[in-house]
Amino acid sequence: MWKSLLLIAAATSFGLAPVAMNSNAGQAAKHTQKSAAKAEAEQQASANAEAMDKAKKLYEMDCALCHGDKGLGDTDIAKEMKLTLLPYGDPKAVAAMSDQEIFDLIRKGKDKMPPEAQARAKDDEVHDLIKYVRQLAKDNPATAPAAPAAPAEPAQQSPQ
Ligand code: HEC
Repeated sequence: MWKSLLLIAAATSFGLAPVAMNSNAGQAAKHTQKSAAKAEAEQQASANAEAMDKAKKLYEMDCALCHGDKGLGDTDIAKEMKLTLLPYGDPKAVAAMSDQEIFDLIRKGKDKMPPEAQARAKDDEVHDLIKYVRQLAKDNPATAPAAPAAPAEPAQQSPQ
């Protein structure tokens, strides 16, 4: 008898968390129904998220091999092939290039960078890929080249 009461108590307390979560989700859903415009915006956002997800997969298949998952250009293959890859976050790399320049680079390739065939990525997919690459550049700013160590300890400078 006591045992079963305890079980019921346990079951209800475990049950509480999901119920609370569900009602939150329900409120969120109602919220989005408030205005059609808002729902549309959300749809757009999820379409964008989907496009970025696809772009990420494409990047990982066709680009990360050389440029690395984060676009740092520090892969073994890059070293083996002696490629000079700028980290995307380098101000001279992605930020200095127009979308068109990056587009042409991806489509036509350059030097040891292979072109991305039309059959592999449609134009709008390449445009999404460019967005993804720009995001990588933003998320992973190039670390400034190691500055010569500042004379931190005055003691080091005094002649001994
Ligand atoms: C086989 C290795 C390789 C692959 C795979 C590759 N790249 Fe490159 N990428 C390079 C090389 C080499 C350069 C430098 C080209 C040059 O300027 O001579 C480069 C340059 C770039 C640059 C300009 C910044 C820089 O480092 O000079 C961008 C942006 C870029 N690649 C994006 C991509 C994207 C997006 C993909 C996938 C569709 C991709 N790359 C696939 C080798 C590669």
